[in-house]
Amino acid sequence: MQWEQVLAPRMGRMKASEIRELLKLLDQPDIISFAGGIPDPALFPVAAFQGALTAALAPGKADAALQYSVSEGYLPLRQWLAAHMTGLGIPCGVDNILITSGSQQALDYLGKLMIGTGDTVLVNWPTYMGALGAFNAYEPVYDRLDPRDNRGAAEYTAKAAEAGGRVKFAYLSVDFANPTGETIPRADRERVLDLADDLGAAIVEDAAYQALRFDGEAVPPILALEIARKAKTGGSIEDCRTIYCGSFSKTLAPGLRVGWVCAASPVIGRLVLMKQAADLHSSTLNQMAIADVAANLFESHVAGLREVYKARRDHMLAALSREMPKGVSWTRPEGGMFVWITLPETMDGAALLARSLETERVAFVPGRAFFADGSGGNTIRLSFSRADEAAIDEGIRRLGRLIAAD
Ligand SMILES: Cc1ncc(COP(=O)(O)O)c(C=O)c1O
Repeated sequence: MQWEQVLAPRMGRMKASEIRELLKLLDQPDIISFAGGIPDPALFPVAAFQGALTAALAPGKADAALQYSVSEGYLPLRQWLAAHMTGLGIPCGVDNILITSGSQQALDYLGKLMIGTGDTVLVNWPTYMGALGAFNAYEPVYDRLDPRDNRGAAEYTAKAAEAGGRVKFAYLSVDFANPTGETIPRADRERVLDLADDLGAAIVEDAAYQALRFDGEAVPPILALEIARKAKTGGSIEDCRTIYCGSFSKTLAPGLRVGWVCAASPVIGRLVLMKQAADLHSSTLNQMAIADVAANLFESHVAGLREVYKARRDHMLAALSREMPKGVSWTRPEGGMFVWITLPETMDGAALLARSLETERVAFVPGRAFFADGSGGNTIRLSFSRADEAAIDEGIRRLGRLIAAD
């Protein structure tokens, strides 16, 4: 079969990354890995999920748990989320919440909802590579979003028109971002709102790590800032252009694939149509389990996670200060899972990974894949979420040695 003859043009944008091949080596037992941005499985609330699943499958409940259900999502979970979002400064009701199969599905749906071939999406340089992967299927053009560069709406619009489309939305990983670990300050969030207003564009706010703040002051979600603006003239979430994507993956369990979108109800309504067409609904049983565990222990469980991840972050930052040679700089995240390293300009993160796996047996993610224009070759992402303190000390020592020798 000549598959090229039947593939859609969009497949040209969907390529397996070369680093994935290298990262296959991660399963080897002697590798110290700072690569995956995933939770430590030792911290999963296993007993709580066992109880929740047993309860969901008990007589009287099992019929609903194992049956098809509504595309919007399991109502008690949407109710819990509406209260949770209200607590974050986003007053809303269940009609503003859609349950998705992880926030990754929300990114795919939002691409499908808004991007026509050649339309422009504004993203940070770097940004979450999974968002680029999701949007790429809809064949957008990317333009660099830097709230401080003073480019006005007219400049963005002209560039988008040159590419044959218009600016549809800005996508931002807002708190302890994947990959940089940085948090977008309040003033920059306000600037993005101003710009989106001027452009008539939407904002996709990816808050996957929002709950994992270790220190510093919480920054209001962009959607909360926008609601506060609208409230001055009697408006509400229904008047907002910001679409908030949340996830239980980093707080409770990624394997259950439960995330959510919070937005104006007309947006939710359209996403519901999309979900009906794509997968009908997210797993009923998984939603019931998440609803039960979230209602019983979300706050206390996340408090425990913060403590463990904070200690690992502190340990990694201390090790970097001790071990990194001159010319290397890194971010100091206030939460999340990532530290972002900038190497001397002449160094290449992918080449460093290949050497590191061969000689030092330390894994990380080269930064280039996070840049929509393929720049950023001298950057790498380290995750501190899964390594214990001894592995962090040893891994950073080896990495420092490798970089110094380059
Ligand atoms: C910034 C960001 N957004 C979204 C996701 C997708 O997460 P999930 O689909 O598990 O909710 C991830 C996963 O790593 C992420 O880092």
